This record gives sequence, C-alpha cells and structure tokens, in this order.
Amino acid sequence: MKNAISISIWYNNFLASPKVFLKSMSQPKVFVTRRLPDGGLDRLRFLAEVEVWPERLPPPYELLLEKVKHIDGLLCLLTDRIDRQLIEAGASLKAISQMAVGYDNIDIPVATARGIPVGNTPDVLTDATADFAWALLMAAARRVVEADRFTRAGSWQTWEPDLLLGSSIAGATLGIVGFGRIGQAVARRGAGFNMRVLYFSRHRRDPALEQSIGAEPAEFDVLLGESDFVTIHTSLSEDTYHLFSDRQFELMKPEAILINTARGAVVDPDALYRALSGGKIAGAALDVTEPEPIPLNSPLLTLKNLIVSPHIGSASRQTRLQMAMIAASNLAAGLKGDRLPYCVNPEVYAGGKGE
Ligand code: GLV
Repeated sequence: MKNAISISIWYNNFLASPKVFLKSMSQPKVFVTRRLPDGGLDRLRFLAEVEVWPERLPPPYELLLEKVKHIDGLLCLLTDRIDRQLIEAGASLKAISQMAVGYDNIDIPVATARGIPVGNTPDVLTDATADFAWALLMAAARRVVEADRFTRAGSWQTWEPDLLLGSSIAGATLGIVGFGRIGQAVARRGAGFNMRVLYFSRHRRDPALEQSIGAEPAEFDVLLGESDFVTIHTSLSEDTYHLFSDRQFELMKPEAILINTARGAVVDPDALYRALSGGKIAGAALDVTEPEPIPLNSPLLTLKNLIVSPHIGSASRQTRLQMAMIAASNLAAGLKGDRLPYCVNPEVYAGGKGE
C-alpha cells in the first residue's frame, strides 16, 4: 500500500515535471501529402504530430520543399516528386514512407546516401492490382466499354451474329512482362482460364515456382510474337522507359491486346497511337499513362480500341486502407529509429537486408 502511494506520488510529480511537458512539446513532426482512408494513420498519431494536406490535388512542389525543412517524417504518394533538392532540404528527415508499391518518383540513391530509409507498401495490393489487370484484359477482349456506350446510345436493335465481336480469352496465350508479385498473381489467374502463360523477366524464376504457377520463361521478342494478350508488370527504370515502342508493336500479333497497370512511361504513347491506329495491334487497356492524367487532347483518346482508367489498379477499399496502415507503420518505425517493416533501400542499415 505504502509502495502504491509512493509510486502514485512519484508518477504525479513526473507528469507535472517540465521535462515531460517538454517531451510532449517535442513530438516528431510528420507531413502526409493527402487525406488517407479513415483509421489509416491511427498508429502514427500516437507518436507524432501529424499534418495532413487537405486538398484533392497534391501539394505543390514548392510547398512540399518548404514543409520538408521542418519535419521528421514524410508520408507521400506516387504523385509527389521527391527529388534530390527536396530530400536534401529535409535536414531532420528520419524516414520517407510512400503509400504505393512503386517508388520511381523518389530519388532513392540520394535518400540512401543521406541514410534515410524509404518505405513502400507491397504485398497488400498484389491481388487488387492483378484483379484489375484482368478486369481490363477482359473488358478489352470482349469490348465491354464499347458495348455499354452502344447500348446507352440506343443502338441495340436485335441479337446480331456479328455484333461487337471480340477475342476469346480461354485457351489464348498470355504474355507477362515483369514477373514480380503482381505479374505472378496475374499468371495464376491465367491458369484458371486454361491459358498458355509466358513471362519475361531479367531474372529467371525457380523452375519449381514456374511449374506451380504454370508459366514458362520466354525471351522478350518471342513473348511479343506469340502472345494474344501482353500485360505489363515491371517497375519504371532507365531500362524499362519506353520499353514498348514501334519495334515492339511491329513484333506483336495484329490481334494482340496490350494491358498496362504498371507505369505509363513503360509505353511510348506516340508509338502506341501509331500501332493502334495502323492495325499493328488490336487494342489496348491502360490504367497508367504518360503523362498522368492523360491530356484530353491526346490522339489516343480518339481511338475506339483503347480503354483508359485513372490509375486505380489498387483501388479497393480494403486494399487502400491496408496500404495506408502499412505506410503509417513504416513511418512510425522510422521515427523511432527501428527498421522499416518494408524498406526499399535496406543498405541504410549497416550490413542489413530489406523486407
Ligand atoms: C501504384 O501504382 C503503386 O505503385 O502502388
């Protein structure tokens, strides 16, 4: 009892002490570049002073450049340009956490050189993105968007033997470019459609994995020549910038359909226009474009054999909440000096390996 009283006196004194007051005053500061799904930031709010950019459009670069000078942690999106100037301006930046799996908008070598860990949100969006690649594949193959427009325009008069003919999916050849988590999840779905699945990747996968997924490795040009559907799941880098240009479209079948849910700049948009309008390939479905958003005067938007959606591959309610929670956990870990649960530059941890 005596002990309990003295602990309680000590605790009350402790709470009232100027040191505790100072501690709460000096919580780390975090800037979040957009409103995130409700509940996503909860674990961050326990340990940091969190400011959220309230607008629908991203914060202007100049504003972010000013903000970063006064924060300990940044939670950003793929629409924010996190370049050398911005990272170097963040004198007290302890971590950068991106709510996305891709991070081509962030200058990783500069962050690494400054010892700043960068986090991303893989895994939780794999299935949602693979589902959406399939949604686009099926919509393009069976002309779902055109059919909807046709019906609403009052053009449906009767059942016609040759109305809105598309391509068969079951039994066709699916070519997957980039065979990471998402590419593999797309391949698994292809097996359910009894497809022949080819993949191209810089690194050959373990034959046991290939077998369990039901996918065969192929040279890039061979994959292009043999696939009825080509779907892109590679990250954007110097090596993959405009990986699809005139030569690649020449190699594809005239009946082939291209699907891109990865990064817009993997496809040269002018070459794609030439290929679609000149009959080099039959159609395309893009969830990502170069630039984003696609300009309304883009010649691509005049084409009937193209479907475009506004970068929503991972946009299921459940997935976006999980992405926000992982991004918050990554940042929380970075602020505490702990290893980020999902780190893209593990070199910042001496002798460590990431994820
Ligand atoms: C979306 O494009 C992502 O990289 O998560």
